[in-house]
Amino acid sequence: KAQVNVLEIDAVGGKTQINKNIYGQFAEHLGRCIYDGIWVGKDSPIPNVNGYRKDLLEALQALKVPVLRWPGGCFADTYHWKNGIGPLADRPKIKNVFWGGTVEDNSFGTNEFLNLCEMLGCDPYISANVGSGTVGEMVDWIEYMTSDDDVPMVQLRKKNGREKPWNVKFIGIGNESWGCGGDMTPEFYSDLMRQYSNYAKMYGGDKFQRIGCGSNGGDFNWTKVLMEKGRNNMDGLSLHYYTIAGEGWNNKSAATGFGEDLYFSGLKKALYMDELVSKHSAIMDQYDKDKRVDLLVDEWGIWTDVELGTNPGHLFQQNSMRDALIASSTLDIMNKHSDRVKMANIAQVVNVLQAMILTKGDKMILTPTYQVFKMYNVHQDATLLPSNLICEPYKLGNDQIPAISSSASVDKNGKIHVSISNLNPSKEIKLEINLSGKGFAKINSGTILTAAAVNTVNTFEKPETIVPTAFKNAKKLTDNKLEVSIPGKSLVVLELE
Ligand code: AHR
Repeated sequence: KAQVNVLEIDAVGGKTQINKNIYGQFAEHLGRCIYDGIWVGKDSPIPNVNGYRKDLLEALQALKVPVLRWPGGCFADTYHWKNGIGPLADRPKIKNVFWGGTVEDNSFGTNEFLNLCEMLGCDPYISANVGSGTVGEMVDWIEYMTSDDDVPMVQLRKKNGREKPWNVKFIGIGNESWGCGGDMTPEFYSDLMRQYSNYAKMYGGDKFQRIGCGSNGGDFNWTKVLMEKGRNNMDGLSLHYYTIAGEGWNNKSAATGFGEDLYFSGLKKALYMDELVSKHSAIMDQYDKDKRVDLLVDEWGIWTDVELGTNPGHLFQQNSMRDALIASSTLDIMNKHSDRVKMANIAQVVNVLQAMILTKGDKMILTPTYQVFKMYNVHQDATLLPSNLICEPYKLGNDQIPAISSSASVDKNGKIHVSISNLNPSKEIKLEINLSGKGFAKINSGTILTAAAVNTVNTFEKPETIVPTAFKNAKKLTDNKLEVSIPGKSLVVLELE
């Protein structure tokens, strides 16, 4: 007997806002993310706006990036911000010790980053240096960025051509302090976090959301200790989790040319995010039942082997239809956990890991993952609609995952958006959608992203192989019911009204 796939959506029972920052991005000084990515410099033959690559800037503006995290990653705990301000000739160089040993000229620093955020209309999320920095250095940075008083750091900012402070809301107190950010124990780090946080608050006032460094994937003890010792000293706690489709860190597997086994394992490992977030949230609930402390998944995405012939320390990887489905199903998970998860930052925005954009000389590709973020931005700041999905499994060998991932929201104009991914690579799936509590008048629009194969990618020669197109296979059955047929390996976003 054929399985009936049903998605029940409570159209009037929504309570939680999907924080737009769940659609956040991350830009680290790593490989070609900043240099030869976002920043080509004013003298570059590549068209640019004051040094920012023009085509890329426009693509990011179209994406509606809500928040951008910088300068790392591991790099953040080696970064001394004063080396990245003032006249270029006076800026000392820095060796990027974590990422390929590349020597950078510091031409992209605080002013360049914060001006970029203004051009994108997004909130900056600064990751402060706790590993090799000092409290004083962080306090000076905060003063330079946010103060309007007649104090030395503000005078310095004005001398550097910026009169008014920038609007900085988020400050991360260290990055991966359990690893590259200082190799600390949770007990030691919580004490340090309390100390740094204390001064971040004092100088930044209430404007700051102070983000404690959270756990490495399933290290639940880290979350427990941080909540036990530091919950009153932070407004958010982060979590990092990367999807490795292959056997592990030493055999991550390639971003292209993979078969169904690595497609399946990539998705299965990405879906583990649901369990991770549930478990970390449950620990946080024990100490913070009112959910004052946010959970921020400020690094996530698929991490594969680098493209052949590229610097292994630069983490440059291609991006396939599989990765688009990893993005869509992960964003569904974040949407559904939006009572606790208030930000997520995919790694990374350009030329690194699961990137939105890849560049090569003057050429640029919008990846399938970019298209997912663009299709999904309708969920930004909308109200999550409770939903219940009954669906068939997608089986491979003795293993299985749900064949469908979905989430739904209603925006401030009353438009309902439903995102649905069919993870089965080869089977078209019929799904019945029932809206309870409210009828809808029409299916406004539908968009689909799909590809010839799960490992299909956009290349510099054929950059528009995977692009969204109109979706026509949605049929209204009654005022409360519709039926959609979703091809294998595809994702759809519907707008109902
Ligand atoms: O995103 C790449 C790296 O992954 C970051 O620098 C680090 O925080 C994480 O381990």
